[in-house]
Amino acid sequence: MVIGVLGGGQLGRMLALAGIPLGHRFVFLDPAEDAVSADVGRHVRGEYTDPDAIDRFLSGVDVVTFEFENIPPAALDLLAARAAVPLRPGVDALRTGQDRLFEKTLFREVGLEVPDFRVAESPESLHTAVAEIGTPCVVKSRRMGYDGKGQAVLRSPADVTRAWDQIRPTAPGVIVEAFVPFRRELSVIAVRSASGRFEAYPLAQNRHEGGILRRSIAPAPDVSSELQATASAHAKAIMERLAYVGVLAIEFFDVGGRLLGNEMAPRVHNSGHWTIEASECSQFENHVRAIAGMPLGSTSSRPAAMINLIGRPIENALGVLDIAGAHLHWYGKEPRAGRKVGHVTIVGADATATADDLAAKLGLDR
Ligand SMILES: Nc1ncnc2c1ncn2[C@@H]1O[C@H](COP(=O)(O)OP(=O)(O)O)[C@@H](O)[C@H]1O
Ligand SMILES: [Mg+2]
Repeated sequence: MVIGVLGGGQLGRMLALAGIPLGHRFVFLDPAEDAVSADVGRHVRGEYTDPDAIDRFLSGVDVVTFEFENIPPAALDLLAARAAVPLRPGVDALRTGQDRLFEKTLFREVGLEVPDFRVAESPESLHTAVAEIGTPCVVKSRRMGYDGKGQAVLRSPADVTRAWDQIRPTAPGVIVEAFVPFRRELSVIAVRSASGRFEAYPLAQNRHEGGILRRSIAPAPDVSSELQATASAHAKAIMERLAYVGVLAIEFFDVGGRLLGNEMAPRVHNSGHWTIEASECSQFENHVRAIAGMPLGSTSSRPAAMINLIGRPIENALGVLDIAGAHLHWYGKEPRAGRKVGHVTIVGADATATADDLAAKLGLDR
């Protein structure tokens, strides 16, 4: 099959690296000249809302997917008007994943609790919302945020104006959440096929700093079979509601063993990169299998730890490769502050300890 991917970053690149051995070819639509997926497929350079670019992208494509969720609605309209091929996961999943209010509403509908929240459209209504939620709280743009961008922590109601000016939200405004004193952050990566088969990977435990994922370990320690089953059941219910085909990620806060839903990503996810080496079938291969109508692969996994390489060139790449069980992924992106430029996965029973040593050696721990 020819698989069309909206977006040509590292996630698209890793999708192709998993899908090419299965006999698929890849086409990427991305406005960036230096889209890193260009190494592994045909790169159509153009805006997502450019009808001509969409036509060139769709030529010969059998199924369309995406590697980021902030696809402009105008692009979806163009695709719907032109494509006789399926968009997987579908438009419902994409629209839900584009708006934090829609995500939280869906989470509640399937019985996944969320932090107490309010929405606001203006600095005035944000004042009211913050007064109702109390401080500390987190204000987030409903749309377009990622890697902690478009959000601010409020320590006092006096911070409202500053937060609004800093976020400068576009329509439909912001969401205000109670600050959650979580024990840890967890995520589940799940996959659903067109025929409704469902699989989930073991929960990963994720450490964020400055809103950016730094480390994941999987399976997360101290996870009871009930907790794993609860997380999987939430993913399954959400995917069934959305008639979902492909990989979905859900981020949770673990509050004393209780899961609160934070957000979802209707795509392959950074907290699942460890599955490339540690799982029978990685999140990338399973996404490709699902959208191409192939049977899903096993999610059975060995222990692993993943370290994100952020913002700067790695001085000691060969040092990483010297470590047994360590795998280096370099995305070929220009290093820039806060930008994810690669990751390292370590597989094996001592993966977490090895990752701690390695992160210290690479100077990644502050
Ligand atoms: N309500 C909250 N309480 C405490 N920490 C939060 C809250 N919301 C977000 N965070 C922290 O900020 C990180 C990024 O927020 P998230 O909502 O996941 O946005 P993004 O789309 O940028 O990943 C989270 O992983 C978590 O560490
Ligand atoms: Mg997040």
